[in-house]
Amino acid sequence: MYVCICHGLNDHQIKQAVCWGASRAAEVYKHFGVRPQCGRCVSYVCERLAYHKKMPAHR
Ligand code: FES
Repeated sequence: MYVCICHGLNDHQIKQAVCWGASRAAEVYKHFGVRPQCGRCVSYVCERLAYHKKMPAHR
């Protein structure tokens, strides 16, 4: 599922960023060398970060 339409980032990529050490939304975007454009995805990225932190076995 696409999380960020502006940059074409999907949930799998968000998980990947978390596995590589991203713990904040800004670090997720930095991992892919982008910055939020419209910002509509930021709250969802934060939700996914919280979920992946709670569920380390699903990383
Ligand atoms: S949807 Fe992610 S910056 Fe627009």
